[in-house]
Amino acid sequence: MTTKIILDTDPGIDDAMAILFAEASPEIELVGLTCVFGNADIDTSTRNALYLKERFGFQCDVAKGASQPLERPPVGASVAVHGENGFGDVAITEPTISADPRPAHQYIIDSVKAAPGEITLVAVGPLTNLALALQQAPEITDLVKEVVIMGGAFGTHDHTGNVTPFAEANVHDDPHAADIVFTAAWPVTVVGLDVTHEAFFSNDYIDTLRDTCGEVGEFIWDISRFYLDFYKARMGVDGCFVHDPSAIAYVIDPSLFEVRKGPIRVVCDGPAEGLTLQKHKDTKHKTDDWADKPAQSVAVKVNDQALLDLYLDTMSRFG
Ligand code: RIB
Ligand code: CA
Repeated sequence: MTTKIILDTDPGIDDAMAILFAEASPEIELVGLTCVFGNADIDTSTRNALYLKERFGFQCDVAKGASQPLERPPVGASVAVHGENGFGDVAITEPTISADPRPAHQYIIDSVKAAPGEITLVAVGPLTNLALALQQAPEITDLVKEVVIMGGAFGTHDHTGNVTPFAEANVHDDPHAADIVFTAAWPVTVVGLDVTHEAFFSNDYIDTLRDTCGEVGEFIWDISRFYLDFYKARMGVDGCFVHDPSAIAYVIDPSLFEVRKGPIRVVCDGPAEGLTLQKHKDTKHKTDDWADKPAQSVAVKVNDQALLDLYLDTMSRFG
């Protein structure tokens, strides 16, 4: 049986890797791409989603979402990581197709209500669209099948942050939205830096994608040149971590991951803004802002070789 997903995304180079993975997978029905600011501004991220849809012939809808965080001042686009155009400054043509007229959060609400219990929300950008959907229609918590999020860092394997020493980018971009989404009464699984920094696409691996996955593989190779230069300059490595595709891998095969249960909160201001904390021990305290929140799942271990094999095997369907 296939899993219907709405993929909330800020494309973005690793977002494109994830979107194409979802489209290729026989286990997934990609219902919609809902776009959010983050790696690029909202017009650019929506344009990039429409570009992928048109160029690679997706059937899914595309909806444009939030242009800024709920409360904090915008951090600004991740130009140093994803380039001015979000796709590593590889020239792309303007799409001739348009987005759904509804804002992304309304598209999410309508889609979930039209298919109760069937849709998994997968979010790989700032969580603003999901928080807006929850604020406008809290009843969707009972109608969504599952929520899978690439975001956050809980310190497993010493992975504590990327944009700050103690915050991951998607959560740091809108910590208030993340706290709303993590504490809502729906089943959330977080695929954060704890596992995405444990899986690595080497330069050689991306060369293999180019050589075996047809036009899609060539496109991923082209847009990842800029991304790999960033990784080399910043971290001295020949390759990149597997962020957004890991969330799709979880949807396809959760057994690749080991999870830990417990409520999650987000620090929303100060130097630790964007820090994610899971209370995974059953301790008692006089003051406990985790106590009445639902237990969510945090991925703490990944079978990285099996994940890499799954990605290549799935993407080779494009070859
Ligand atoms: O921290 C990694 C995340 O931030 C990924 O989703 C990447 O695309 C950026 O949005
Ligand atoms: Ca992303």
